[in-house]
Amino acid sequence: MLTLVVLISGTGSNLRALLEAASHPGFPARVIAVGADRDADGLAHAEEFGIPAFTVPYTAFPSREAWGQELVEQLDAWNPDLIVLSGLMRLLPAAVVARYAPRIVNTHPAYLPEFPGAHGVRDALAAGVSRTGASVIVVDDGIDSGPVLAQERIPVLPGDTESTLHDRIKPVERRLLIDVVQRIATGELTL
Ligand code: GAR
Repeated sequence: MLTLVVLISGTGSNLRALLEAASHPGFPARVIAVGADRDADGLAHAEEFGIPAFTVPYTAFPSREAWGQELVEQLDAWNPDLIVLSGLMRLLPAAVVARYAPRIVNTHPAYLPEFPGAHGVRDALAAGVSRTGASVIVVDDGIDSGPVLAQERIPVLPGDTESTLHDRIKPVERRLLIDVVQRIATGELTL
């Protein structure tokens, strides 16, 4: 059974989908803890599913490195097989990447390497592209620059706003993420 710690910053809708998938008896992975860099709304999903949660508030630390050290300590306490960044809106400090790579995956609301960074949906709209996408990647030291594990194209429709487009991307992200976790857990996909 592959053990996961999921890190979030926001509403955690992708986290919720993973928790639902992992609650099925046949699913080969389970979420052992959920962590956040702030008082994220998505922590409520962990509580609902009876999964332990922890917060390492970014703003409480003097530097990204200091935050990263505490994050490593929290993660080490759970010793997960895989870390899933599911809407964590922080660049992971080098210490975390060095300790866990390549066992860290990230979901991203664009077809990487197109539109990396914190505003993948907004940037795609601003560029006027006719299609964008969703990706699941391995996290490395760069900004959304690691190897792509799964991705899918999604059309940008006339009249799309950041919100309507993101709402169409997220279900695809969820499907890709659950599939990637399942394939890592069964050994079909090696990191
Ligand atoms: C997701 O679309 C995720 O890919 C994105 O934040 C959203 C979180 O939604 N992450 C990034 O943009 C990271 N650069 P959620 O909190 O509802 O799961």
